[in-house]
Amino acid sequence: MNEPLVLGIETSCDETGIGIVRGRTLLSNTIASSMDEHARFGGVVPEVAARAHLEALQPTIERAVADAGVSLADLDAVAVTSGPGLAGALMVGVGAAKALALSLEKPLYAVNHLVGHIAADIVAPDSERIEYPTIALLVSGGHTSLLHVRDLTTDVELLGETVDDAAGEAFDKVARLLGLPYPGGPQIDRAAEGGDPRAIRFPRGLSRKSDLEKHRWDFSFSGLKTSVARWVEQHQDSGEDLPLADVAASFREAVVDVLVTKTLDACQERGVPRLLLGGGVIANARLREVALSRAAARGVEVRIPPLSLCTDNGAMIAALAAQLIASGRQPSTLGFGADSTLP
Ligand code: KG4
Ligand code: ZN
Repeated sequence: MNEPLVLGIETSCDETGIGIVRGRTLLSNTIASSMDEHARFGGVVPEVAARAHLEALQPTIERAVADAGVSLADLDAVAVTSGPGLAGALMVGVGAAKALALSLEKPLYAVNHLVGHIAADIVAPDSERIEYPTIALLVSGGHTSLLHVRDLTTDVELLGETVDDAAGEAFDKVARLLGLPYPGGPQIDRAAEGGDPRAIRFPRGLSRKSDLEKHRWDFSFSGLKTSVARWVEQHQDSGEDLPLADVAASFREAVVDVLVTKTLDACQERGVPRLLLGGGVIANARLREVALSRAAARGVEVRIPPLSLCTDNGAMIAALAAQLIASGRQPSTLGFGADSTLP
């Protein structure tokens, strides 16, 4: 089959994403987000997310099909994120995908969300053919993963991941303790403007020699969060105004430094001069700046898909399935379920 027409369904967190691709060409990428409903809780509430997916799926599918200018009957396959992610949220997407595939009598592909993030760049509008092997860093509110991708469809190695909070989660939690609203990433980016990133030396998680033996490629952000909380408390005791810009800039620097250092070390140790970035935290201005400049100094080529393809979306799920189909992979049998801890 040439250039399969695939509809992808993504519901692993708070975004209901429906994307339609034809092979490597993006036809539509439609998102409904329940972020506003989570704002007053300061983070994603799984039950609220699952309900929101249920309400949003039908209209979002209709919009995606209209945007793409195709009809459901034209599809060659349906694809869905089966994990990892929030169990209830995933189940809604998996159920919808099965119903759609069954009623249309189309093959169904269950795919891994993280590998989907790596596939996003394939359908980026200005994308030349992405080359493998590449190192990939995926940073969002739900995950922080470092991968060595030798082949998208057959050989993706998870080098390391966060042992506690995800990078985006750290931004959200620190924003909250600084009195800034959710989602915290953009707020901290803004608050850090004009601040001195060297004003306070916050810890870089899992970077000491003793940590590196066991956690060479893993990340940890909960100690950093505690350290910011303690600093703020102590400062409040002094009765002076909080130097918000300096705290935000110093915290952001600690996150960015450890992410970029470990990632570029992985490029070097694995002999892979290519780096793909993905996930919502890639919107961070300082992360992009530091990653690009340090990578250039080490001869590493960096690819950053447009933000609409970096954050959770259905197009990346469809793009991955299109590659699986092209590589001859058989569709999933209907027996699969949502797997919140899918490796
Ligand atoms: O990929 P994404 O849209 O969704 C999920 O995590 O599911 O990522 C959202 C996360 C949030 O934690 C948000 O605070 C963070 O990405 N984020 C940022 C920035 N923009 C969004 N973190 C740091 N700097 C930003 N500019
Ligand atoms: Zn994601």
